[in-house]
Amino acid sequence: MIYLNGQFMPLEEARVPVLDRGFIFGDGVYELIPVYSRRPFRLVEHLQRLEHSLRGIRLPNPHTPDEWSRLIQEVIARNPWEDQAVYLQVTRGVAKRDHAFPVDVQPTVFIMANPLSTPPRTQVERGVACITAADNRWLRCNIKSISLIANVLLRQLAADAGAIETILLRDGFLTEGSASNVFVVRDDMLLAPPQNHLILPGITYDVVLELAQSGGVPFEVREVSEFELRSAQEVMLTSSTKEILPVVEIDGRKVGAGRPGPVFERLYRLYQDFKAQVM
Ligand code: PDD
Repeated sequence: MIYLNGQFMPLEEARVPVLDRGFIFGDGVYELIPVYSRRPFRLVEHLQRLEHSLRGIRLPNPHTPDEWSRLIQEVIARNPWEDQAVYLQVTRGVAKRDHAFPVDVQPTVFIMANPLSTPPRTQVERGVACITAADNRWLRCNIKSISLIANVLLRQLAADAGAIETILLRDGFLTEGSASNVFVVRDDMLLAPPQNHLILPGITYDVVLELAQSGGVPFEVREVSEFELRSAQEVMLTSSTKEILPVVEIDGRKVGAGRPGPVFERLYRLYQDFKAQVM
């Protein structure tokens, strides 16, 4: 069951007019919220980021946080899975095609849930391979825009190469993955690229830094060069669906010893324990 503009219905029955600006211009924003044991994880933070994204595209938020929370809980309740990935999207609505904003148009609000599929054990235990590419996205990557063509093309490069993710480099520095944040370990220090307009402020990124802080893992938020990425002891990806994943190969070369490292193991444990507490 999904939610669309005030109604709950089966996905198959949901229809959006072809003139929706999401379809025509990619004019909208989204969130992806993991749900464990029917409880949305870090809901407040996801809704704050949604608010930020909506402001970024100058679209008034159609709902208060309480309204969002109720709608999301309702979608969760109407679906059969204990663990879900709730996807929500707001577009500027349906209007005659014109780049400038339409007046008096209702935004389109869509919420769906799918079973949450976290990475298979083998990926967590053995690690995953990534490739790198030049980050050719726009300069407002802190907005969770539905205009994802650059991310789609970049991710497909990884798929073509049999890799899991494309790690992006801009002007000689690490930004993030096509759909994840990237952390690096050097000299036993966890390094995180700063949250600015070049990356999405990941909710999982924040959780990982909080866990590093409380768990005594030394970390630093600072720019990470391409050289530092390529000669790192450890590299890991984070996202709401990937949680934390160890990267053991980049562009066909081993990362560190070529297997998941101790900083990953520690953070992964802390993350699973933290999840278990909120479940
Ligand atoms: N993507 N950076 C990008 C470009 C992303 O698309 C995502 C998440 C992240 C990680 O953010 P978070 O920890 O809040 O999930 C970073 C989601 C999962 C998606 O597009 O499906």
